[in-house]
Amino acid sequence: MWLAPFMSTPHISAKKGDIADRILLPGDPLRAKWIAENYLEDVTQFNAVRNMFGFTGTYKGQRVSVMGTGMGLPSISIYATELFNEYDVQVAIRIGTCGGLLEKTKIGDVILAMTASTDSNINRRFTNNLDFAPHADFQLLLAAYEASKGNPNVHIGGIASMDYFYDETDSAQKLIQHGVLGVEMEANALYSIAARKQRRALAVLTVSDHIITHESMPSEQREKSLNAMVEIALTAALNG
Ligand code: HPA
Repeated sequence: MWLAPFMSTPHISAKKGDIADRILLPGDPLRAKWIAENYLEDVTQFNAVRNMFGFTGTYKGQRVSVMGTGMGLPSISIYATELFNEYDVQVAIRIGTCGGLLEKTKIGDVILAMTASTDSNINRRFTNNLDFAPHADFQLLLAAYEASKGNPNVHIGGIASMDYFYDETDSAQKLIQHGVLGVEMEANALYSIAARKQRRALAVLTVSDHIITHESMPSEQREKSLNAMVEIALTAALNG
């Protein structure tokens, strides 16, 4: 199961070829393990550095990997850069939770992030102070849309990747004025780095809490909602 350690990047201990060219990226490494155990067959673990577990297996006969990224734009930036540069990953789909902003983005709903704004300076560092507008890959977005077609609880639109989870400013109101669907902490950096490396990316998110109403997802709803997100993401990874 565990492959011989081979330190090829500072944060990923895997040989080239251990990682599929399509990968799902949850923030939580234990969610990566859960997905590998519940959705993939013929699984091998390729990473445990910093307990950022990564696995490769097959889904419906096709090779796919899943690995945690940690929280926040800097953390996902490290893993995305190494996966694209050193492991030739072509398709990266972030899966995770987000805070809903609008009335229609209810707890348990899924958001396909067409674009990701940010308050993080990392976006400007990529482009020497220009406000680049990172967006999802259209083929992946279309495949995710088709995988979720007819489900009124799936929304497509912009999200925002924020630096500080416990934000005390009125930025949520500004985002709402612009029709932003939800907030999380990673997609903007993934989309920017994918664009820079000419790779393809998407974020599929479950609304776990609501920024305005302060509702949060009851534990009995968690598994069902996470399943919908994982199935959409795996289908998009293989078809998109
Ligand atoms: N803010 C940022 N990221 C999140 C949130 C939130 O409220 N909920 C889940 N991920």
